[in-house]
Amino acid sequence: MKAVRVQRLKAEDVRRFAERIGAKDRSRLVVCKGEYVEIPILDGFERFFEGYDIVEQENPLFARKNDLFEILKDEIPRDLWDLIPRRYKIIGDVVMIKIPEELEEYKKKVGEAILRIHKRCKSVWRDLGREGMIRKPKVELIAGSGSETIHRENGCLFKLDVTKVMFSVGNQGERMRIVNVVQDGEVVLDMFAGIGYFTIPIAVHTNARRIYSIEINPESYFYLIENIRLNRVNNVIPILGDSMNVTPEGFAERVVMGHIFCHEFLPVAVKSLRSDGYIHYHESVPEVVIDRPIERIRSVCESLGREVRIENFRKVKNYSPGVLHVVVDAYIY
Ligand SMILES: C[S@@+](CC[C@H](N)C(=O)[O-])C[C@H]1O[C@@H](n2cnc3c(N)ncnc32)[C@H](O)[C@@H]1O
Repeated sequence: MKAVRVQRLKAEDVRRFAERIGAKDRSRLVVCKGEYVEIPILDGFERFFEGYDIVEQENPLFARKNDLFEILKDEIPRDLWDLIPRRYKIIGDVVMIKIPEELEEYKKKVGEAILRIHKRCKSVWRDLGREGMIRKPKVELIAGSGSETIHRENGCLFKLDVTKVMFSVGNQGERMRIVNVVQDGEVVLDMFAGIGYFTIPIAVHTNARRIYSIEINPESYFYLIENIRLNRVNNVIPILGDSMNVTPEGFAERVVMGHIFCHEFLPVAVKSLRSDGYIHYHESVPEVVIDRPIERIRSVCESLGREVRIENFRKVKNYSPGVLHVVVDAYIY
C-alpha cells in the first residue's frame, strides 16, 4: 500500500493535488510522522508524484467504516467522489449539510448515510443558504423528519426550528469569547438577538446586571423567549422590534452587534451607550478591504463627536472565498 512522503509544509498542497487527480486512497488516513506526512495513494498513480518519495506503508491506518465517504463511494460514481461532502453540522439532533448541484440525484443517499452514522439524529437538511436581513434559512429535507431541536453548547440550551431560524455552529468560539469579556454588573444590549445566540451565554455564564435583547423576527423572538425559559435566566429583557427604531439612548455599557450586515446601525449602537463602553461589531468583509469595519466605526464616532480605541480585531470564520466574518471590539468614550 503506497503513500507519498512529503514534508509537513507541503503536505496540504500535495494532498489536494492527489485528491484532484483521483490518486488519493480515501480508504486510508493521512499519517503524520515527525516532520513528514504520508499521503496514501492508489496503485498506478506513482508517476504523478515525481520528485517525492513513494513509500510502502507498513502500518496503514484505515478510515473508519462510519466515514460518510466510505459509505457513499459504492453508491456514487467515481468521477463524483471529490464532491462528496467532508463536513456537516449537527444542531441538536438535526443535521445540516451543503450538497453540490452535481450530487442532486444522490442527495437522499447522502442523507440516509448520515442517519446511519449518527443514529441519535432524526433528520438531515440540505443547507441552501440564508436570505435577507433576518437570515432566514433556505433548507430542504433530504432524510428523516422533524425540524425543531434543542442544541446544547457550553452549558447553554438553544431551542430552534432549523427551517425558521439559523444557527451558526462556527460562531461558538465568539459566543464564549464574549462571555469572558462581560464584567460583573454590566448592562448589555444585544441588538440582533435572534434566538439568544449571545444573550443566553451571557445570561448563563456572567453576572451582567441586565441584557436587553432586541429581535425583529417574531419566529426568532418566539425561540428567544423559549430559551430564556429553558435556561432559567431572569436578567434578560426581550424586545420584539427593529433595533433601528426601538433602541433607547444612553443606557448600555456594552453592545453586541452580532449581525454581519449591520453597519448602518452603528450610530444607534454608539448612542445607546450610557457614557463610555464597548461595542462588539460584526461584519462580513472582503479581504481586499479588510480595514473597512474599523474605518466605519471611526467615521461614525467622529460624526457623533466620540473618541474610539480599537482594542481587538479578529476573524470569526471564513464567510465565502475571499470574504471573512470578523468582529471588532471598540472602546468608545
Ligand atoms: C441570525 S442572527 C446572527 C447570527 C448570530 N450572530 C450567531 O452567533 O449565530 C441575526 C438576527 O438579527 C435579526 N435582525 C435583523 N435585523 C434586525 C433589526 N433591524 N432589529 C433587530 N433584529 C434584527 C435577525 O432576525 C436575526 O435573528
